[in-house]
Amino acid sequence: MDEVLIRSPKTPKEWSKYDDFRWDILRKPLKLSHIPLKDDLEDISTHLMAVDNQESVIACGRIHMNTSNEAQIRYMGVSLNHRRIGLGSKMIDRLESIGRVKGAKKIVLNARAEAIKFYESLGYIEIGPYESDIKIPHSSMEKLIY
Ligand SMILES: CC(C)(COP(=O)(O)OP(=O)(O)OC[C@H]1O[C@@H](n2cnc3c(N)ncnc32)[C@H](O)[C@@H]1OP(=O)(O)O)[C@@H](O)C(=O)NCCC(=O)NCCS
Repeated sequence: MDEVLIRSPKTPKEWSKYDDFRWDILRKPLKLSHIPLKDDLEDISTHLMAVDNQESVIACGRIHMNTSNEAQIRYMGVSLNHRRIGLGSKMIDRLESIGRVKGAKKIVLNARAEAIKFYESLGYIEIGPYESDIKIPHSSMEKLIY
C-alpha cells in the first residue's frame, strides 16, 4: 500500500472532501439520492478518513458512544481502488481504539450483507437482522473489546 494517513478531517475543505467521499461510496451506488447521508449524531462522533499521498480521501468511518460502555461504528467505506489490501481493517482498528479510550467495552454496527464477511474477519458476530434507514437489508453485529 502507498503511504496512507488515517486521521480526522480538520479544515472546511477536508470536511467537504470527506462528505463527498462518503456520498460517493455509501449512497451514490444505491441510486437513492433522497436518502440523507448524515444522522443527528455527527457532532458527537469521531470521524476518521484515510488520505493518500495526493491528499485524496480513500476511506472513511465514524464512531460514537451509544452508552458509557457501548460504541457504534457507522458510515464505513473504502474506495473501490483500495479494497482488499487491509485498509478497511486498519480503519476499524483505529475506530475501535478510539472507542476503547472513550470507555467502550463493546462495539456494535449494522452491516450490509456484502460487508458481513469483512466484519466477521475482524471478530464481529452477527446478532440478527436490522431494518436500516436506507431500507436495504442489514445485520446487527457486535464485538466485545478489552
Ligand atoms: C466492506 C469494506 C469496507 C471492506 O474494506 P476493505 O479495505 O476492502 O477490507 P480489508 O482489505 O481490510 O479486508 C479484510 C478481510 O475482510 C474480508 N473481506 C473484505 N471484503 C470482502 C468481500 N467483499 N467479500 C468477502 N470477504 C471480504 C476478507 O477476509 C479480507 O481479508 P483478505 O482480503 O485477506 O481475504 C469495503 O468493501 C467497502 O467500502 N464496501 C462498500 C461500502 C460498505 O459496504 N461499507 C460497509 C457499510 S455496513
